[in-house]
Amino acid sequence: MDDEERIVSAASNDAAEEQVEGSLRPQTLNDYIGQEKLKQEIGVYIKAAKQREEALDHVLLYGPPGLGKTTMAVIIANELGVNLKQASGPAIERPGDLVALLNELTPGDVLFIDEIHRLPKNVEEILYSAMEDYYIDIVVGQDAGAHAVHFPLPPFTLIGATTRAGMLAAPLRDRFGINGHMQYYTENDLVAIIHRSAQVLHTAISREGAHAIARRSRGTPRIANRLLKRVRDFAEVAGKETVDPEIVDYALQLLRIDERGLDENDRRVLTTMIELYGGGPVGLTTIAANTGEEAETVADMIEPYLMQIGFLKRTARGRVVTPAAYEHLGIPYNQN
Ligand code: ADE
Repeated sequence: MDDEERIVSAASNDAAEEQVEGSLRPQTLNDYIGQEKLKQEIGVYIKAAKQREEALDHVLLYGPPGLGKTTMAVIIANELGVNLKQASGPAIERPGDLVALLNELTPGDVLFIDEIHRLPKNVEEILYSAMEDYYIDIVVGQDAGAHAVHFPLPPFTLIGATTRAGMLAAPLRDRFGINGHMQYYTENDLVAIIHRSAQVLHTAISREGAHAIARRSRGTPRIANRLLKRVRDFAEVAGKETVDPEIVDYALQLLRIDERGLDENDRRVLTTMIELYGGGPVGLTTIAANTGEEAETVADMIEPYLMQIGFLKRTARGRVVTPAAYEHLGIPYNQN
């Protein structure tokens, strides 16, 4: 199955979901729940930049999908009181596309590039001087008429987002002055986010109902909000006025999402590793080939959460299923 079809996938589904996400998105650092350390730090840098009337240093946000990297970029621009230009690595295909984006910036503006690890190399190289000294040198014309044009830029802030900082080339990574590592959210943070979203959606939900959803949201606000909306549908059709743990259990059972928020894809990865490879160690590409997933999907969307909850371990010789995962799946663990 495409990762986009999974209800517990942290990948954004489509434009419609982006729009609903947008409506649930906090607009200020104050309204942003969780990521306390990052929030505190960024708050100081924003204040300092404003006091000095300078552009904020470039910011790299990295962490699993769905944790609020785009939201954070929107808030940073908001708090700075500047324009935000949004772009995505794979959509910037040629140097000219990037030049067009840079050309529209006014002093202090924020350029947000999502999936910045997927920028084509020749585009990425233009960013180096743009970030470091606010200029670009571009070659125009062809053959004998080709010549370099020096193109100054206003001071601006690049915010790059990526799922894994390690996928960035060192020259790019080194040009970000501020590094923001986004962490999975705690259950209590997710409960607060769910209550806030329920209010925006005019949905009544009990404390226990919010906890029941939070526990199955894989530490990820995007999933929490998606599950809330699905459970709300079930509640409405069942004529329930309040989302409570019973309707959450009922809905998520139908959606085949278990108590830890794992869906069939997660369980298939674990059971495949157990049944075919005795629980590992087994390599990423082997896991992907045997489960019909892309290696990148396993690495970015499935593994990180399984590791976070201690169901998978990475060793020098490959991935290993832990005893906790065996217990969760109801499969006897045999040391040998
Ligand atoms: N909605 C999605 N993520 C959120 C967050 N971190 N804080 C508040 N509302 C959110």
